[in-house]
Amino acid sequence: MNQSFRALRSEQQGDTFTNTLIERSVADLPAGDVLIRVEWSSLNYKDALSASGKPGVTRNYPHTPGIDAAGVVVSANDGRWQVGDRVIVTGYDLGMNTAGGYGQYIRVPADWVVKMPPGIDSRYAMLLGTAGLTAALCVESLLNTGLSPEQGEVLVTGASGGVGAVAVALLARQGFTVVAGSGKADAADWLKALGAASVIDRAELQAGSNKVLLKPRWAGVVDTVGGDILVNALKTLQYGASAACCGMAASAEMHGTVFPFILRGINLLGVDSVELPLDLKQQTWNLLASEWHLEQAERLLAAEVSLAELPQWFPRILAGQVRGRVLVKVAD
Ligand SMILES: NC(=O)c1ccc[n+]([C@@H]2O[C@H](COP(=O)([O-])OP(=O)(O)OC[C@H]3O[C@@H](n4cnc5c(N)ncnc54)[C@H](OP(=O)(O)O)[C@@H]3O)[C@@H](O)[C@H]2O)c1
Repeated sequence: MNQSFRALRSEQQGDTFTNTLIERSVADLPAGDVLIRVEWSSLNYKDALSASGKPGVTRNYPHTPGIDAAGVVVSANDGRWQVGDRVIVTGYDLGMNTAGGYGQYIRVPADWVVKMPPGIDSRYAMLLGTAGLTAALCVESLLNTGLSPEQGEVLVTGASGGVGAVAVALLARQGFTVVAGSGKADAADWLKALGAASVIDRAELQAGSNKVLLKPRWAGVVDTVGGDILVNALKTLQYGASAACCGMAASAEMHGTVFPFILRGINLLGVDSVELPLDLKQQTWNLLASEWHLEQAERLLAAEVSLAELPQWFPRILAGQVRGRVLVKVAD
């Protein structure tokens, strides 16, 4: 197949990285089992890192970013997939060093492909995207410890970001009293509309304390930011409670002590949505499309943009200025 299509190309020019729309050919895509026509993609923090040449995501440029894609199978040489199947691909190497969802076609290994669950479409899947999948995994990991709503307040940090906002909505939908931690004072009403019971200023969560333990408050924590905010959240967990840790929007470092672990029996649960085995990814997408379906998902939408409009959003998400999710309309 020698179909040409449009894609965003991130390219290094001297010390800077540019993102331009180009025409490319399906024949130039990497080898793989399944060719997919992408309908929708989304913007995640990691996409902006890739598109801006930040270290640790993409090694070689020029490159087409986009860690998320949803669309339709065009051809497949793996018996699990038929032409016309609707599918989701998130994570693994997509958009990192494999041409990603900011192109109208992707070709990927069959083991990366999730079947679109009944009840949702490509647009809904990408309204959630990797951020939504990660939020769901955080909530699942807390529920697996036995967390239930009557145990008290659950804190979500970086609450106005993609992962945080979906976590707020998912927890609220299941009856939890959610406290949304955010640096955006003007996001309070929006966070409450998503389901937060109250909003706490990021500065309050970040304020240094030389105490090794703080007054117990949280029955659970979903942390998307790391650093001092995570360390303080651990000091503030109730006895035996858990924090799900998935991000580092503030810092990848943690400077704390073992005392919350050995005096309060707390747990730190690591969450990864990228290399998660495919069967577990599929299960979580099935859950997001059924019992955890968000009736008010449109509230998560920050903007719906074309591939041409997308680059202006990269610096905004890197600066922590995006509220909710940016959907990318990839198909013409
Ligand atoms: N483990 C995984 O598999 C996985 C998957 C997806 C994402 N992630 C990671 O999770 C994090 C969130 O991703 P995302 O897509 O939700 O990003 P995002 O939309 O940019 O949200 C991040 C949020 O963190 C807060 N924030 C930003 N800078 C901060 C700072 N310096 N200090 C404290 N808070 C800050 C902001 O929320 P407020 O203004 O509301 O505070 C911001 O909106 C990223 O680190 C990402 O790499 C991990």
